[in-house]
Amino acid sequence: MKNIEKYIDNMDITMEAPVSEPERQYYFIKKARNYVRQASEEAGRPLTFCVTTFGCQMNARDSEKLVGVLEQIGYQEEPNEDKADFVIYNTCTVRENANMRVYGRLGQLKRAKKNNPHMMIGLCGCMMQEPHVVEKLKTSYKHVDLIFGTHNIYKFAELIVTRYESNRMVIDIWKDTDKIVEDLPSERKFSFKSGVNIMFGCNNFCSYCIVPYVRGRERSRNPKDIIREIEKLVADGVVEVMLLGQNVNSYGKNLEEPMTFAELLREIEKIEGLERIRFMTSHPKDLSDELIEVMRTSKKICKHLHLPVQSGSTEILKKMNRRYTKEQYLELVRKIKTAIPDISLTTDIIVGFPGETEEDFLDTMDVVKQIRYDSAFTFIYSKRTGTPAAAMENQIPEDVVKNRFDRLLKEVQDISAEVCSVHEGTVQSVLVESMNEHDDTLVTGRMSNNLLVHFKGDASLIGQIVNVHLKECKGFYYLGEMQ
Ligand code: SAH
Ligand code: SF4
Ligand code: F3S
Repeated sequence: MKNIEKYIDNMDITMEAPVSEPERQYYFIKKARNYVRQASEEAGRPLTFCVTTFGCQMNARDSEKLVGVLEQIGYQEEPNEDKADFVIYNTCTVRENANMRVYGRLGQLKRAKKNNPHMMIGLCGCMMQEPHVVEKLKTSYKHVDLIFGTHNIYKFAELIVTRYESNRMVIDIWKDTDKIVEDLPSERKFSFKSGVNIMFGCNNFCSYCIVPYVRGRERSRNPKDIIREIEKLVADGVVEVMLLGQNVNSYGKNLEEPMTFAELLREIEKIEGLERIRFMTSHPKDLSDELIEVMRTSKKICKHLHLPVQSGSTEILKKMNRRYTKEQYLELVRKIKTAIPDISLTTDIIVGFPGETEEDFLDTMDVVKQIRYDSAFTFIYSKRTGTPAAAMENQIPEDVVKNRFDRLLKEVQDISAEVCSVHEGTVQSVLVESMNEHDDTLVTGRMSNNLLVHFKGDASLIGQIVNVHLKECKGFYYLGEMQ
């Protein structure tokens, strides 16, 4: 970050903006600083921002990049959205309810904006990649100042300058990109752990899923850039990284010098000072024996694998375009559990996919009962315009889906409480993440298998890895004692 600041300070903003990135953005960051300073003098106080993130870890990581730019140009963080001068929603559109929440909150912001002449509202993220959303915003939400998408988030500073100079709604959405811009500012939410993008986009086109349409084609980051970023993070106090991609198992296929995800992990493992490596998400169809072997022998890769099954029915999996059968998935899990017996497995499941019969659903229940996941995210199928599944016949009635969903949730929760409790009495290595939200004599830490434990401690422990005796399982978490 320090290096970046030096570059930004050295930009000459009396000249035309450079064409190449990231220099172009450094130029606009410096330019934006002047506008923010002016506005802040007018207001007679520092200007503030509030970024709200919807959706997955990709979005969370993108939001850190937004915050990085906002802080560079002189905004200060304000947790209360109603008081902030720059409100940003980084949106998700994977299910319909995520969209509805954004429209609802935008309506409320209209009032806040009337009371604050400096207020700006920015919208970005996956929802903005859908043309019908942008149309609706243009006609019914005219109080929005800035709209951009997932492919040009690196241009954030430039777009802010455009907004300051034009005084009208700025919209910049790209359909796709093959560009990856490195070395932009970014502000981490946690000092001791960080998400690291290893790839962007998705090529799988699962038939229910909107992500490939809003995140574009799969692009892997150069391994050297990934390693360099992690080395910098470690130098800055980070001990745990979460490698991020929609399908990390297909990492490296489109690089000039192709490389597998397992090979990348081997390189990351060598980084001195890095203690823990996590990754998500793994698509079962691409999970290689090589990866299982790397996980088995690694000292740093956490004993946790998120392996979305989506459905237990081979028929439905075919219609979902997942490209594995129930049997292949079960066999894969068997292989993983044989190699790494203490691994914690989690999953995503969709209920009510078009054409799902009671028998199909029972196949899903069967997989859940056989595998006994540590935890599972269960979703009601949500119809996404433009995906193949939205046009399929036999959409399932709401009451049938709800009934199946409730049965599945109960099964998943009962199993997960049982699975969680098996560690009672053991000593685990735990990364202390925060003070306990309800009791300030306790800290909260995360084990390698992703479970949380609360134990006596103070703020000085945050970011440290310590040994904790797990005294009592409380369903989905533990109470423990530091050794
Ligand atoms: N790339 C990841 C998942 C990204 S979306 C993967 O392939 O596993 C996260 C989860 O949202 C998915 O695993 C799926 O379970 C769920 N999901 C995606 N589209 C959905 C839809 N249309 N309706 C309901 N759930 C959906
Ligand atoms: Fe969506 Fe499938 Fe890609 Fe995951 S792998 S993001 S579920 S299309
Ligand atoms: Fe949502 Fe986009 Fe992630 S649609 S789940 S925020 S990739």
